[in-house]
Amino acid sequence: MSHFEHDDHSNNLTTEASDFSQIIENGLSRRRFLQTATAGSSVAFFAASPIANAMARPPKAKPLLGFDAIPTSTLDTIVVPTGYQAEPLIAWGDAIHPAAPSFSQFNSAADQEKQFGDNNDGMTFLPLSRDRAVLAVNNESTDYDTLFDDHGQNLTADKVRRSQAAVGVSIVELRKGPQGWVVNVDGRLNRRITAYTQMELTGPAAGDEQLKTNADPTGTQVLGTFNNCANGATPWGTYLTCEENFNGFFGSEKNIDVPEKDKRYGIRSGNGGFNWHQFDERFDIEKEPNENHRHGWVVEIDPMNPHSKPKKRTALGRFKHENAALTINKNGRVVVYLGDDERGEHIYKFVSKGKYNEHKPEKNRDLLDEGTLYVAKFTAQDGEMHGKGEWIELTFGKNGLTPENGFTSQADVLIFTRQAATQVGATTMDRPEWVAVHPDNEQVFCTLTNNSKRGNDGMETNPANPRENNIYGHIIRWQPKNGNHASDKFFWDIYVLAGNPEQYSNDNPRSGSDNINKDNMFNSPDGIGFDNAGRLWIQTDGNYSNSGDFSGMGNNQMLCGDPNTGEIKRFLTGPIGCEITGLTFSPDNRTLFVGVQHPSDSFSAIDGIPRSTVMKITRQDGGVIGA
Ligand code: FEO
Ligand code: CA
Ligand code: CA
Ligand code: CA
Repeated sequence: MSHFEHDDHSNNLTTEASDFSQIIENGLSRRRFLQTATAGSSVAFFAASPIANAMARPPKAKPLLGFDAIPTSTLDTIVVPTGYQAEPLIAWGDAIHPAAPSFSQFNSAADQEKQFGDNNDGMTFLPLSRDRAVLAVNNESTDYDTLFDDHGQNLTADKVRRSQAAVGVSIVELRKGPQGWVVNVDGRLNRRITAYTQMELTGPAAGDEQLKTNADPTGTQVLGTFNNCANGATPWGTYLTCEENFNGFFGSEKNIDVPEKDKRYGIRSGNGGFNWHQFDERFDIEKEPNENHRHGWVVEIDPMNPHSKPKKRTALGRFKHENAALTINKNGRVVVYLGDDERGEHIYKFVSKGKYNEHKPEKNRDLLDEGTLYVAKFTAQDGEMHGKGEWIELTFGKNGLTPENGFTSQADVLIFTRQAATQVGATTMDRPEWVAVHPDNEQVFCTLTNNSKRGNDGMETNPANPRENNIYGHIIRWQPKNGNHASDKFFWDIYVLAGNPEQYSNDNPRSGSDNINKDNMFNSPDGIGFDNAGRLWIQTDGNYSNSGDFSGMGNNQMLCGDPNTGEIKRFLTGPIGCEITGLTFSPDNRTLFVGVQHPSDSFSAIDGIPRSTVMKITRQDGGVIGA
């Protein structure tokens, strides 16, 4: 049997967590343990998960993945399976207001407030009726090479303002007609949120000394959001946008000593990536040393009220937030899983104090302001890549989060969440990107995109991050004890280790897990999400050189996985230079929206400028996507 075929077990893991623990403890795994020679150590490696074996569907069930897989591509276009079509829905610079000018590199900040923002990333489809909806979309970043005709070489105050208008969030009304879902340029709810939109800091850290600035002595009123990576949504109709690499927007004119606690978040003296500090003092860390503490949060937006003030929810901690995967626990508490995308950072969970009220939406408005934040610790028996886990509470006064260790309040714990996680002994992860909760509410998946430092710089491997110099990435999953997301215990294993079985032989961890083969290989999983039927959609943001370690992988892509069998099939390939990121479905799952971010050649180009684009994917027969 070749290394990529599956074992066929008939156990079904749509079971109670107690069964799950038994599966783990009985060691059902037919594990292939390899000894990989490293300097003075041996690394046990297994190629597929015990959960995957245990979850095999009953025989004769219709396959969950009903489409024909497509090959890799290096073309400058989108490719989808036979019987599917992909069309652009909206791209950077397209009108979201009747008075918007057409896209050009000379659009003013005011022009851009009437246009769709740059670098679309995470997004959520919020239905209003059968033929009316709102699409809320993050605009993660901008690129001076495409934003300005001089590539940003002669930066001015006006250009900084234009750059600040290109990022944030776009809220766009959609209408369903003969062409399916299309943008309603006249939509009353259409709105741009930018790096200078008025917002409020709420929750336990709001008003703290470390959040006060010259412009805001209250420590509660913030301007703007930027580097909005991925997202989440609440059942009470709001959108969650996550602030990721905010540090790149800060810098200083003078060379200064940056406090150690800010260095942990990547704050640096001198020129940052965007140099906003040269023309906007609040981004100069010498003049406004606290402004950077007001970014790196999860922001809740009410897309149904275009005049509402977005709220930065400090109870969910401050780090480089990737997305916010929200679920309602069976006891009614709101649970939000959160990844911090940086090498060696952590996975978090927030549990609300209050309970979700299905019948009185107004009661849910501030549920994300009060609750408990936890960080994950993964453990396993020697040499195993599955085991138990623990959520460690990040509450001032507990678990060493005390003045002796440098924490003086809960605000301190939340503003410097990374340091708190280190203090309590959280597991260092290989760049946690998106988290997704299975619709059965039993399992949670998280992409660990890659980590070139693992095994170097003192960052040892661990059972949950088992490969040194993890160039391909993996997807971990866990199941809360007794199906209770508020429990501080869980069981975990690895759903897939990405790899290249063409480049590496079966006995090398870089060949990937058993569910990776020459026809579905990929690297750097990033965006993930489930559809109603429990298909796991996987998007990549990785190396698209199609050579060396990455030969045979082609452009960035989107795949679909069966959580029960472990099967993974390629569904979509993107154009040159892009990452595929952002996914959301219409409620009937017959339209899928997918983001193409930062294409580099000619995709969606105007005047030779390639543009990030939200694509709409449908089936020619109108059927359910993926079925
Ligand atoms: Fe914006 Fe971690 O991706
Ligand atoms: Ca991105
Ligand atoms: Ca990402
Ligand atoms: Ca990424």
